[in-house]
Amino acid sequence: MEIAVKTEDPQPLSSAHAVEKVEHAENESAVCALVRPAVPDDAEAIAAVHIASWQAAYRGQLPDDFLDGLESQFRARADFWRQEIASPRTASHEIWAATLAGHLRGFVALGPARDANSRLTGEVYAIYVHPNSWRQGLGTMLFTRAMTRLAALGFSKTILWVLQSNTPARRFYEHAGWSADGRTKLETLPGGIELREVCYQKNTRLPN
Ligand SMILES: CC(C)(COP(=O)(O)OP(=O)(O)OC[C@H]1O[C@@H](n2cnc3c(N)ncnc32)[C@H](O)[C@@H]1OP(=O)(O)O)[C@@H](O)C(=O)NCCC(=O)NCCS
Repeated sequence: MEIAVKTEDPQPLSSAHAVEKVEHAENESAVCALVRPAVPDDAEAIAAVHIASWQAAYRGQLPDDFLDGLESQFRARADFWRQEIASPRTASHEIWAATLAGHLRGFVALGPARDANSRLTGEVYAIYVHPNSWRQGLGTMLFTRAMTRLAALGFSKTILWVLQSNTPARRFYEHAGWSADGRTKLETLPGGIELREVCYQKNTRLPN
């Protein structure tokens, strides 16, 4: 799909409220995509995107009954995101939302790295786009904003953890200039489901 990207504020995004705009050029009544800070009332939409994205992306990588059961966690997940947005753990924790024609279609959560020795290392904790909106540039918009914010927050390097078998997401990160740093870890989900994750890293700089 051809899209034209417009940045309303072409300067480095010093304001947490600056937004980017994408117009879908093939549509005469231009569908606008915006990236903006998440607000507590986004919590339900974020939980819905999170669950739908897990179910589509991890089908075949995680057990079907686990993925099919995620809907039963909707309330708990929405409450979790509402809390994270309303009361960030630190001033460096941020959640951003991507909307398409006013509907929330993706989000990114960022902040200090959870397992780093250095205070200068940030982390992208989660980036998810609704499967119906994949490959339309929303992930790139969110990721670009996350990197700009992490640089503005003073992190000189950023890491993220991704499922080793999640080849599409790894392609997305590599396309954005990230590389695996060689570290792996094993996460265990409720029910004893084991996830092998690999770490990606990139230096974080404000655009010139
Ligand atoms: C990963 C994700 C956030 C990417 O968002 P997106 O909006 O689809 O990505 P974009 O449209 O901005 O893609 C940018 C580029 O990344 C690469 N890319 C994105 N998805 C890809 C895929 N499935 N396979 C290969 N490359 C891909 C491509 O180079 C793409 O550019 P192109 O479409 O012009 O070829 C989204 O696919 C997603 O939510 N996936 C499921 C959840 C997930 O895995 N999250 C990461 C958890 S660690």
